[in-house]
Parts: sequence; structure tokens; C-alpha cells
Amino acid sequence: MSSRYGEFPGARPRRLRTTPAMRRLVAETRLSPAELILPMFVREGITAPQEISSMPGVVQHTRDSLRKAAAEAAAAGVGGIMLFGVPEVKDAVGSAGTDPDGILQAGIRDVISEVGDTVVVMSDLCLDEYTDHGHCGVLDAEGRVDNDATLERYAEMAQVQADAGVHVVGPSGMMDGQVGVVRDALDEIGKQDVAILAYTAKYASAFYGPFREAVNSSLKGDRKTYQQDPANLRESMRELALDLDEGADIVMVKPALPYLDVLRRVADEVDVPVAAYQISGEYAMVEAAAANGWIDRDRTIMETLTSIRRAGANMILTYWATEVAQRL
Ligand code: PBG
Repeated sequence: MSSRYGEFPGARPRRLRTTPAMRRLVAETRLSPAELILPMFVREGITAPQEISSMPGVVQHTRDSLRKAAAEAAAAGVGGIMLFGVPEVKDAVGSAGTDPDGILQAGIRDVISEVGDTVVVMSDLCLDEYTDHGHCGVLDAEGRVDNDATLERYAEMAQVQADAGVHVVGPSGMMDGQVGVVRDALDEIGKQDVAILAYTAKYASAFYGPFREAVNSSLKGDRKTYQQDPANLRESMRELALDLDEGADIVMVKPALPYLDVLRRVADEVDVPVAAYQISGEYAMVEAAAANGWIDRDRTIMETLTSIRRAGANMILTYWATEVAQRL
């Protein structure tokens, strides 16, 4: 049919956008609770949950409130929980990280006794929560992060976390060889079934800011000698090849939104599941803008998560996991 304007438009993509039902029908990307992972902080020696001022709505949990929040996440259908421990005492080598009764290990036991096998329970495997200098490893005489000495600490951490019953460990310190060392340490004590979620492409990002408050970090300076330069993409492909070779079961890109190109490259490359971590600063940015009335909070949250999925993530760590799972 022709109009007085001629034959065009010959195609009308808008037809598929006419109603909510039509848009839902043709949506190429969907979110479901099972692929959301909730990061949680458990702090030693507190009697009430502590608010994190730069992450409104997120708290440092007591052991008790951790159990309750984990049960709530499970009830909402969240697929996983990632636990971070905040110890009372920090020291140069991060002793609390390898104490079988340390706060993270206690939190793992608590959460598993609460949710059993209904949710995948994961733990952060890194020293920065436990060291008094705030670095992700132990330091050498010159004050540099000592890669190989740190690997020995990670091996021990993997074993105590596995002994506490965790299902998945997440080595996040960006030390060379960490995945292989953790795999060996787990296998050595018969924990072949504990999986490794590797922080494969982890960038030295300013967006980690609020997390430092969340774990009471005393870090001065930055992590640029071990985390990746935001300028680099090819470097992530190298980290990916190494992690897969060393035995990573799931690979992760972090942060998420500023690195969607990295996520897409990784997702195109691999035949293992791909995770993305929507980190503290991404959370804070949306919450702050929404609190000012500058953006629509709920729509923005869903748009960021949808975009991360669209870019290739099979699963997403997000501080909004429970809320979004309830909404879905
Ligand atoms: C390291 C670790 C960090 C985060 C997760 N694991 C901090 C860092 O590398 O500086 C950041 C998570 C976030 O910002 O939400 N233990």
C-alpha cells in the first residue's frame, strides 16, 4: 500500500513495541532470581547490624542478622550468596582469614545451617579484609605485595573455607597462579567438589570505594600492581586463558557496567559460565542519584542488570539480589 508520502517506511519495527505484552514476548534478555548472587558482609564482635554509609540499604551483619538475611534471600529464590568476613583484629598476614573459627568461616557455617543446599554458598578468598595494611596479600621487606608468599596464604584460606563447608570459593586477589594453587589445595584435602569462581578480569577500579568502608579497610594507596589497568582489554584474554588452564569453573568480570565490552569478549570466548560483579560503587552511584530524585531507581536497577546479562553474563553478583528476586 502506498501513501501520499511514497512506499516508506517499508518496515515498521515499532509494531513489536506497541504494548507491554508485545514487548515482553519479544524480549531477548530475561532476568531470573536463580542467576542473582547476593554479596553479604558479616562482621565480628558487633551486636547490631552496622549501616554502611556509602551503600545505603547494605549492612555489615551480625552472625544472627546474616542468617536471617540469607534465609530471606533463599526464600526470594536468589541463586547464590557471596560472603565477606570483617574480623575484629587485623594483622600483617591476615591471620583471621585462616583461623578455622574466624568470622568468615563462622558465617559460612551459619549460612549453610540456615539455607542448606537450596542456595549456592560462596566465599571471598582474599586477604584484604584481614590485613592491617589493607592489601590483598602479604608484603615483602620493601612493602610490595609478595605474590608467591601470598599464594601460600590463599592455599590455607581455601582449605579452612572448604572445611567450613563452602560450595564455591572466589579467589579475588589477582595474584598470578592463584587459581591453580587454590585448586591444588582443595584437592589435597579431598575437596574436589568445591568449585572455583575466578575473579578473572578484575580491574583496579575507583568504583570499589564503598567496599573499603564495608570491610573497614585501612588501605592507603591503590592495588594497581596487581589489579588490571582499565585501559586494557587484551590483557583480560590472557588472564582468562591462564585461569581456565589452572582450573577455573566459573570466570568473572569485575566491575560490570564500565566493562561490558570485556564481558562480551569473555562470554564469546569461553565454554564455562560467566559471572559479572556489579560492585559497590555501581550500587552507590544509582542509590545516590535516586535519593536525589535524579533517576528512577527501580527502572535503573533493572536496566543495569538487563544490560549486564545482554553483554553475556550468565550470573550477576549484585547488592540488589534479594530485592530484585522478589520483584521478579
Ligand atoms: C577483594 C574484593 C574487593 C571487592 C570484592 N572482593 C575489593 C577490592 O578488590 O578492592 C569489591 C567489591 C565491591 O566493590 O563491591 N577482597
